[in-house]
Amino acid sequence: MKIAIINGPNLNLLGKRETSIYGDNTFETYLAALEKEFPSVSFTYFQSNIEGELIAQVQKDGFEVDGILLNAAAYTHTSVGLHDAIKSIPAPVVEIHISNTFAREDFRHQSYISGVAKGLIVGFGLDSYRLGVLSFLGEH
Ligand code: DQA
Repeated sequence: MKIAIINGPNLNLLGKRETSIYGDNTFETYLAALEKEFPSVSFTYFQSNIEGELIAQVQKDGFEVDGILLNAAAYTHTSVGLHDAIKSIPAPVVEIHISNTFAREDFRHQSYISGVAKGLIVGFGLDSYRLGVLSFLGEH
C-alpha cells in the first residue's frame, strides 16, 4: 500500500510552532515512528507553504498512490484550487487536522476539503495521521 502525506503551510514548523496546540514533536520524527509501525506501507511525504505546489502534488500523488492524507492547514479554509484538485484524481483523500478545528475560531469551521474527502480526522494531535493510515488499511 502506498500512502502520500501532504502537509500545507506552517506545518514545517511543527515542534516549534504554537506547541500548546500542535505539540513539540517534529513531523520528521513522527513520520519515522509511523514508518516503523507500518512496515507494509510505503509512505511519501511532501510539505509546502505554497498553494500551487500543494495542488501540483495532489495531482501527481493522486495518480500514483492508494490514498492521500492531506493536512492543507490554513488552505483548508480558503482553497477552491485544492478542492478541485481532489475532485480531479482517483486516489481517495482523507482530510487531517492535528487540532480540533471545530473547537477553535469560526473561520476554521469552514473546509473546502471535507466535501470532496473520503473522510476527515480532526483533533487527535499527530495521532490523526496514524488514524488516517488505519482508515486506509481497514483496521478500524
Ligand atoms: C491545522 C488547523 C488549521 O486551521 C491551521 O490553519 C493549521 C493546522 C491542524 O492541523 O490543526 O495550520 O490544519
